[in-house]
Amino acid sequence: METQKQSSKKRKQVFPFGNYRSYYGYRIDQGTDEDPRLKVLRKEWFEGKECLDIGCNNGIITIQIAQKFCCRSILGIDIDSDRVQDAYWNLRKSARLSSSGNKPVKASKLQDKDHADDSGNRVTALSRVDTKEISEKHSSPEQIDLFTIVSFKRENFVQSRHPPGKNYDTILCLSVTKWIHLNWGDDGLITLFSEIWKLLRPGGIFVVEPQPWKSYESNRSVSETTAANYRNITIRPEQFQEILLDKIGFRTVEDITSGLTLSKTGFNRPILVFRK
Ligand SMILES: C[S@@+](CC[C@H](N)C(=O)[O-])C[C@H]1O[C@@H](n2cnc3c(N)ncnc32)[C@H](O)[C@@H]1O
Repeated sequence: METQKQSSKKRKQVFPFGNYRSYYGYRIDQGTDEDPRLKVLRKEWFEGKECLDIGCNNGIITIQIAQKFCCRSILGIDIDSDRVQDAYWNLRKSARLSSSGNKPVKASKLQDKDHADDSGNRVTALSRVDTKEISEKHSSPEQIDLFTIVSFKRENFVQSRHPPGKNYDTILCLSVTKWIHLNWGDDGLITLFSEIWKLLRPGGIFVVEPQPWKSYESNRSVSETTAANYRNITIRPEQFQEILLDKIGFRTVEDITSGLTLSKTGFNRPILVFRK
């Protein structure tokens, strides 16, 4: 039986980076075929391209993009190693499911709150095996393609060095800007944008889904750092477009929000596509 201490510990769990467990459980309607954002993304941005998904959480949208648009490769990175483990778990499950029908796997099939295995038993999170090792341990030939295309890595994007030489055609940053802004302030946000610009090849695509300023308020107290940064932030999400075009150097922007079907309340956010 659960002790009082254990249950209060559960209640107190905070996610200071937006690193929620089972994020899609409350973002996507049950029974939905796919994340509504996938409907507005265009194949030409991904097909045969090298892609990066910053803040991939449990990897579901990363995997679905790879399957739907046939990326050459897609790397999902997340600051939280537990989410990276979830992502590898979803990748293995996805590879298994799609090898039977060769169809992209529905979000509802992948989303599995308690990590129940196929026989319904609860599976504890994987031990901290090096993620590269996990990707090399796929066993059946049907899984090889997806495992060759999709990979995940733990990384704090704003505090890592990105050595010259590794570039991408398309970079996604979906519902992550608020968390970077709250945790690393205006400087962190500008670092995020300029690193993305540097990592993109000429003509490369940056897809960003910024959270609105009013949503910062409900998360500002997740840590002392976020509370302090919230008070000092001067840049507002409405200014991101101007900053990305005039200061960072992107050449064009397209607002693809209008194509979105209504999402769950609180998740109707703009999606902007910039070209380097
Ligand atoms: C709200 S979730 C969004 C997940 C996914 N991109 C989507 O839109 O469906 C934000 C994710 O960004 C990750 N994150 C926050 N700060 C990060 C950083 N500095 N570097 C890498 N990942 C980060 C969090 O751990 C979390 O999983």
